[in-house]
Amino acid sequence: MTTRDAPSRETILAALQGVTLPDGGDLVSRDLVRALAVAGGAVRFVIEADSPAAAKALAPVRAQAEAVVSALDGVSQVSVALTSHGPPPSLGKTGGKGAPAMQIGRHPTAGPNSVPGVKRIIAIGSGKGGVGKSTVSANLAVALAREGWRVGLLDADIYGPSQPRMMGVTKRPASPDGKEIIPPVAHGVTMISIGLLLREQDEAVIWRGPMLMGALQQLLTQVRWGELDALLVDMPPGTGDIQLTLCQKFDLAGAIVVSTPQDVALLDARKALKAFNTLKTPVLGLIENMSTFICPKCGHEEHIFGEGGVKREAERLGLPFLGELPLAVEVRLASDGGVPVAATDSPVADAYRRMARRLIDSVD
Ligand SMILES: Nc1ncnc2c1ncn2[C@@H]1O[C@H](COP(=O)(O)OP(=O)(O)O)[C@@H](O)[C@H]1O
Ligand SMILES: [Mg+2]
Repeated sequence: MTTRDAPSRETILAALQGVTLPDGGDLVSRDLVRALAVAGGAVRFVIEADSPAAAKALAPVRAQAEAVVSALDGVSQVSVALTSHGPPPSLGKTGGKGAPAMQIGRHPTAGPNSVPGVKRIIAIGSGKGGVGKSTVSANLAVALAREGWRVGLLDADIYGPSQPRMMGVTKRPASPDGKEIIPPVAHGVTMISIGLLLREQDEAVIWRGPMLMGALQQLLTQVRWGELDALLVDMPPGTGDIQLTLCQKFDLAGAIVVSTPQDVALLDARKALKAFNTLKTPVLGLIENMSTFICPKCGHEEHIFGEGGVKREAERLGLPFLGELPLAVEVRLASDGGVPVAATDSPVADAYRRMARRLIDSVD
């Protein structure tokens, strides 16, 4: 397997300097680039405009930014979100049977809340994007359901929701009374994603921080979750406001941190661990994703990112190690096809099953 090195932040920023704005200057000189993250060949960042109107006007700039970064050597995937500081546009009424629009801008209520019927809320986080948090969330949810737990999955990655694709759900959820949202069930898991509730695909990109917090709270409290043994929350990358809101406003059973064995990912994972620690959210365990590469042609297994890094880190910190997962093309193909690999019969599904058992045993 040959991989080209991912570009540095400097290279990416230099490319973005070439993207000029309609009212003068460029993306970098006008300081509009936020949250630049490079993970492997995946690059993601936010363009932050002054107002929703300005954000709208920047749509072509966003497309251009995506194009110049995509053209860089070593970049396999680019995701650019457009946000604004100003007041939000109204999302309008949905009317009829569709799920209600998010009441963006609503402030989270104070104090730790629980969600009726939900025994434990478990956040799945990592320090950075692209380590496989969403993949692990979807598969662990499916594996837990196969082990007999009643499981919910909440996709809290508002800028880049991936659970509709991974779980194979696209239909807008119903809401008979226009308030309560009836979540779909896929592969035995009750799930919701902000991606299912947006009017248009790009709508989330013009929300600002506090609105997102309100939306997260709505997903937790307005969805009819029913009786659940666990609700897994697939967190956005990093240690931002969403993590803060979830940990401070909701009574969490704990968090699971996903990392790859690479030192650099571990460093980021340490940041996430530290943040959970500060927020007094217990860490239920660490998971190593992309531990080994399994060659699809010959089945040979290779520790391309180094061996046992996350396990050692867990031991060092006295935290449970929940297991390791290989980097395997079937994992990505399964995710892209809407049937998580844990729902199949395969060695990777077995690894997820063992992980689910370990988690069940450790919390029961
Ligand atoms: N173990 C794995 N083997 C192969 N591909 C993987 C694995 N884990 C994640 N991927 C792929 O890597 C990409 C990023 O994973 P994702 O779960 O979206 O990361 P995150 O949520 O941390 O940003 C996706 O295309 C996913 O299919
Ligand atoms: Mg994700």
